[in-house]
Amino acid sequence: MIEYVDAAQAPLKNTGQIRLYDADGFAGMRKASQVTAECLDRLNEIVKPGVTTDEIDAFVYAFGMERDALPATLYYRGYRKSTCTSINHVVCHGIPGSKPLREGDIVNIDVTYIVDGWYGDSSRMYAVGQVKRAAERLMEVTYKALLRGLEVVKPGATTGDIGAAIQAYVESERCSVVRDFCGHGVGQLFHDAPNILHYGRPGEGIALQPGMIFTIEPMVNLGRPHVKILSDGWTAVTRDRSLSAQYEHSVGVTETGREIFTLSPGGYDPDLAART
Ligand code: MF3
Ligand code: CO
Ligand code: CO
Repeated sequence: MIEYVDAAQAPLKNTGQIRLYDADGFAGMRKASQVTAECLDRLNEIVKPGVTTDEIDAFVYAFGMERDALPATLYYRGYRKSTCTSINHVVCHGIPGSKPLREGDIVNIDVTYIVDGWYGDSSRMYAVGQVKRAAERLMEVTYKALLRGLEVVKPGATTGDIGAAIQAYVESERCSVVRDFCGHGVGQLFHDAPNILHYGRPGEGIALQPGMIFTIEPMVNLGRPHVKILSDGWTAVTRDRSLSAQYEHSVGVTETGREIFTLSPGGYDPDLAART
């Protein structure tokens, strides 16, 4: 039986139905996502050897508060931080803490702000000082993998087409795609239908339609794809301790293709801007 309080929230539950958003929805996503993208731009100045991930988290919280933007991860399913910071062999959901970043680390910072009820979800990799060539290459492969996925997004393509494009590229670079986490519908919910797998076969999955909004967020490992979750219940690491990277954008399907909501206002993803 559905209670009154639940009834009020019913349209905003993940029912497994894929929501289609109108122009107002796209405008809401644009606004929330640009706060997220601006924060990720600003983090370029903050990420340095010696900085702790708690300091990064505090920045993300304060940046949001100044803009009426609430970090979506805060108190989400018991999570208590404003961002996820995933260092080196951490695949995703790394919890900010008091350990300083070290020269040579690579770190993914994943931020989702809620602005006027809309969720802008994006993440990027940051190099801490000078990093090894292998780490640099992994970040580049992962970024290009996200681009390959985004390029596929248009009405009539399927979610499987996105995954297939990402997987084919990543494996051609002798890296592996993490299977245990996927992209997701986003909009007025943090995690909604459909799931966006970063592997698969062309034509599988569901057909994309104008108005759909979701994330693409491939996690790519230098070694094998398998992950395990640490005893904190969140931190996902590569089983073989190989390096892992991830980039994420929130994207909407338009009549002719896609709109990438979380593009960098500072031009930190130039090739991507050219491809939209
Ligand atoms: N932002 C992550 C995503 O891309 C979700 C983090 S949920 C948390 O979907 F609880 F781990 F923070
Ligand atoms: Co996401
Ligand atoms: Co995210």
